[in-house]
Amino acid sequence: MRARPRSIAIDGPAGSGKTTIGAELARRLGYAFLDTGMVYRATTLAAVRCGVSVHDEAALVALIGRVQIAVSPPAVDDGRVTTITLDGEDVTWALRERVVDDNVSPVSAHPLVRDRLLGVQRSVASQGPVVMVGRDIGTVILPGADLKVYLDASVEERARRRQAELQARGVASNYDEVLDNLRQRDAMDSGRSVAPLAQAPDAHYVDSTSLSVDSVLQHIEDLVRGCHC
Ligand code: DC
Repeated sequence: MRARPRSIAIDGPAGSGKTTIGAELARRLGYAFLDTGMVYRATTLAAVRCGVSVHDEAALVALIGRVQIAVSPPAVDDGRVTTITLDGEDVTWALRERVVDDNVSPVSAHPLVRDRLLGVQRSVASQGPVVMVGRDIGTVILPGADLKVYLDASVEERARRRQAELQARGVASNYDEVLDNLRQRDAMDSGRSVAPLAQAPDAHYVDSTSLSVDSVLQHIEDLVRGCHC
C-alpha cells in the first residue's frame, strides 16, 4: 500500500482558497492544520495595539519576545478553522479586520520577524501529520514536504471571494477597495527579498479560478493518493 504524505504544503496568493481547502483537507485526512498567515496576522495585531511601527524590525522582534501567540483547534463553532489567542485573548476574528489586512505585508517582509516565527511553524510539523498553508511553506518552512501544491486564482476572482466572505460576516466592503488591497499585497508578498511568494519547483500548480471548493479538494485528494512518498 502506498504511504500517505505526512506533510502537505499549500502555498498561494491571498484569497486563493488555501485556508478553506487546507482546513477541509486536514479534517478529511485527520491531520493537524496550520494557516501560517495567522501567525503573521497575530504579530501585526499586537503591533497595532501596542503602537509599534510595522516598519521597525527591531521593535517587532522585541514585541514577538513579549507576547504569547497560540494556535489551537477551533474552540467555537462559528465558521473558524483554528483558534488564535494573543496573550490568552481569542483574537481569531480580529485578525481578519481591515487594519490587519493593511499592515500585515510590511510586517511579514522583515527577515528577522520571519526568522523569529519560523520555529513556531516548523514545530507544528514535527508533532505529526500536517497540512500547512502560506506563502513559503514549500520553499522555506517545509522544503522537504511530501506533497506541495501551489493554489492560484485570478485577482478578480480572489477579490470576489474575499468580499463574499466579508459580507457573510456582516462586514461592509467595497469590491474595488478589496481588489486594490489584494493587488498591493500580491506585489508586496511576491516582491520582498526574503521568502517571497513563489511556487516551489516540485509543487503541483492548481488554478482554482473557475473551480468549486469540492473540485479543488477532489483534485488535491487525487494528488494525495498518487503521492510517491
Ligand atoms: O494568507 P493571509 O492573507 O492570511 O496572510 C497574511 C500575510 O502574511 C500575507 O500578506 C503575507 C504573510 N504571509 C507570509 O509572508 N508567509 C506565510 N507563510 C503566510 C503569510
